[in-house]
Amino acid sequence: MKCLLILTSVALSLAATIPTSTKVDYSGFKALRVTLPKANKSTRNIEAEIEALAAHVLNPGVTEHLDVVVAPDQVDALTALVTESKVLSEDVGALLAQEGELAPVERTYDFGIQAVPSETWFTAYHSYADHLTFLNDLQAGFTNQSEIITTGTSVQGRTLTGIHIWGNGGKGSKPAILIHGTVHAREWITTMTTEYFAWQLLTKYASDSSVKALVDNYDYYIIPIVNPDGFAYTQSNDRLWRKNRQTVSSSTCVGRDINRNWPFKWELTNGASTNPCRETYKGQVAGDSPENLGLRTQVNTLRDGKGIRLYLDIHSYGQYILWPFGYDCNVVVDTDAAYRSVGAKVQSAIRAVSGTAYTIGPSCSTLYATTGASVDHIDQVGNASYAYTWELRDTGTNGFTLPASQISPTVKETWAGLVSALTSV
Ligand SMILES: *[C@@H]1O[C@H](CO)[C@@H](O)[C@H](O)[C@H]1NC(C)=O
Ligand SMILES: *[C@@H]1O[C@H](CO)[C@@H](O)[C@H](O)[C@H]1NC(C)=O
Ligand SMILES: *[C@@H]1O[C@H](CO)[C@@H](O)[C@H](O)[C@H]1NC(C)=O
Ligand SMILES: [Zn+2]
Repeated sequence: MKCLLILTSVALSLAATIPTSTKVDYSGFKALRVTLPKANKSTRNIEAEIEALAAHVLNPGVTEHLDVVVAPDQVDALTALVTESKVLSEDVGALLAQEGELAPVERTYDFGIQAVPSETWFTAYHSYADHLTFLNDLQAGFTNQSEIITTGTSVQGRTLTGIHIWGNGGKGSKPAILIHGTVHAREWITTMTTEYFAWQLLTKYASDSSVKALVDNYDYYIIPIVNPDGFAYTQSNDRLWRKNRQTVSSSTCVGRDINRNWPFKWELTNGASTNPCRETYKGQVAGDSPENLGLRTQVNTLRDGKGIRLYLDIHSYGQYILWPFGYDCNVVVDTDAAYRSVGAKVQSAIRAVSGTAYTIGPSCSTLYATTGASVDHIDQVGNASYAYTWELRDTGTNGFTLPASQISPTVKETWAGLVSALTSV
C-alpha cells in the first residue's frame, strides 16, 4: 500500500513537471548591473535597446543602472551599449536552484483534528494551488474571526483570493489595513511575507496580547497574490515573468504591468511604457486589466466603508520603504511628514531584527518615476491615511530568486516592520 502511494505520487509529480519543455532554462544566463551612458540618453533610447537584448530587465525604470538577465550569446552585444557592467551572477540557473523545490502544505493533526499550517510553511516556496490551500487551511482554524475573500478575476479566470481578519469588534467594524502581494509575478518572497502577516495575526491572537491589540484595532484584508496568472506563469514557463498575461491585438507581446495600470495620473508620460513588449507596459487605457478592476473595486468598497488606514503594496527587491508620489518627483504629498515619520520607524524596526538596511523616501525622488502605481491611486483616490510600497530583500545579489534559506529571516524582519507601522499609523 505504501509502495503504491509512493508510485502514485511519483506519477503525479512527473505529470506536474511535463511542461518543462516550454520552461525557460536560465542555465548559463548572466545577471548584470549595467551603467547607462548619460550623453546618448536623449538621442537614443539605450534602455529600450538593452531591454530588447536582455531576457528580462529586473528593475525597469531605474535611470542610473539597470539589472538585467541576459543569455550567454547576447552578453557582448548588450555590454557594448553600456559604459560599465558588473556581474551580479555568472549563472542565473544556479541562483534559481537555491530556491529549492516547491513544497506542499504539510498537514498535521492533533487528536484527529487538522491543525493550522505550521511555521515550516515559511521555509520553502510553493505552487499556486498550495498557496490557496494554505489560506483555506489557515482560515479554517479561525472561523470566528476570519473569512476567505475574493475581489475579481484575472485574465485567465483565476480568482483574486485573500483573507479578511478581524478582532473583538466583529467583522467589518474597524478601519481597514489593506495588504497586497505578488502584483509582480516573479516577486515570490512577497507571497510568503504577506501570508506570514496573516498567519501571525491569527495564530498569535490568543497568546500574545500585543498582537491581539493590533487585530482588535483594525480589519485586515490581505491578498498574497494579486497577479495569479503571472505567478502561475513563473512556475510553468518563465521564473522571471513580471506582468499579467493579457494580450493586445496590436502586438504579439503579452502582459500589462498591473502596477502601472491604476487610473490616477495614468495618462502622464515617463513613468511607464506604452510598448506592449516592455516590462512596464501600462495598458491601452487606464485600468484596463481585470486584475486592476478587481483591486480598485476592493479599494473603493473599503474607502466607502470604514476607510483605509494603511495600504501596503509588498514588492521585491531593493530594500525600500516608499510613499507617494511616483508620478512627479517635484510634487510633495501633503502628509509627507507623517509618511516619513512612520517610514523611519519601520526602517528602524526592520534593522533591529537583523541589521537589514532599508532606504526610505517618496517613490519618484527615491527610486524612479512611476505612473499608474498603486500607492498614488490609493492615497489620492482610495483616501488611505497611509499608502506605502515596501521593496523587500535583497539589493541585487539574488534579486527575485531569494534562496529558500532567506524566507524565514525576511518574513520575520518584515513582520517587525508591520507591527511598527500598525502601532504608529
Ligand atoms: C555615446 O556617446 C559617446 C560620445 O558622445 C560615443 O563615444 C559612444 O559611442 C556613444 N555610445 C552609443 C552606444 O551610441
Ligand atoms: C476566536 O476563538 C478563539 C478560540 O476559541 C479565541 O481564542 C478568540 O479570542 C476568538 N476570537 C474572537 C475575535 O472572538
Ligand atoms: C478620507 O479619510 C478621512 C479619514 O482619514 C475621513 O475623515 C474623510 O471623510 C475621508 N474622505 C472621503 C472622501 O472618503
Ligand atoms: Zn514589484
